[in-house]
Amino acid sequence: MEIAVANLKGGVGKTTTAIYLAEVTARKFGRCGLVDLDSQKSARRWFEAAAGQLTLEFLDNGGRGGGSVIYDTPPGDASVVELAMTRSDVVIVPARPSILDLDRLAPTLELVRLTGKPAAILLTQVRQGTKALAEARAALDEQELPVLNSMITLRESIAGSAWTQLDKKGLEMYTSVLDEIMGALGVSK
Ligand SMILES: Nc1ncnc2c1ncn2[C@@H]1O[C@H](COP(=O)(O)OP(=O)(O)OP(=O)(O)O)[C@@H](O)[C@H]1O
Ligand SMILES: [Mg+2]
Repeated sequence: MEIAVANLKGGVGKTTTAIYLAEVTARKFGRCGLVDLDSQKSARRWFEAAAGQLTLEFLDNGGRGGGSVIYDTPPGDASVVELAMTRSDVVIVPARPSILDLDRLAPTLELVRLTGKPAAILLTQVRQGTKALAEARAALDEQELPVLNSMITLRESIAGSAWTQLDKKGLEMYTSVLDEIMGALGVSK
């Protein structure tokens, strides 16, 4: 299973999602590769700084390890994002539940449409019970893309987990995301 984590908008939680998703996949299946297609190399720097504390494998030069692969992608570079989508079985689009962010989804969704890959929006940095979340969900009901039931809440300890051990609750939430993706793709657990 190969998953592209993509949103042409910056700062929405792509790298965080790629790391956590690769880590929960690796813990579940024994191994998972992470490919960093962003020239900013945040995922690589995170992996190197976490030295030895992660189960995921960092795949250099976009090489594939035969098992599951997660692609972290850059903001703003449509050709790289399209390449990642083309290689993947499914595309996960992290997005914050704000009208301004959701309004910027169109170029990413256009790439999804071009590549014809199954895709779903993952709401991240969510504050449960807020008006912003309710408004975002209402706006998303009008989009053509499915939204995962699993969401990632806004947690200081997820932001703080960059470079170090991952947040336990964060790992739980991303495990639900993985289970939901596998269920949708019909992959057995
Ligand atoms: N669930 C969360 N709770 C709190 N902070 C979060 C959460 N997810 C991500 N963040 C923080 O939000 C910021 C942006 O996250 P991240 O770097 O993963 O986004 P990105 O989409 O990869 O950004 P870029 O487009 O620059 O590559 C970071 O400071 C990160 O620590
Ligand atoms: Mg990033």
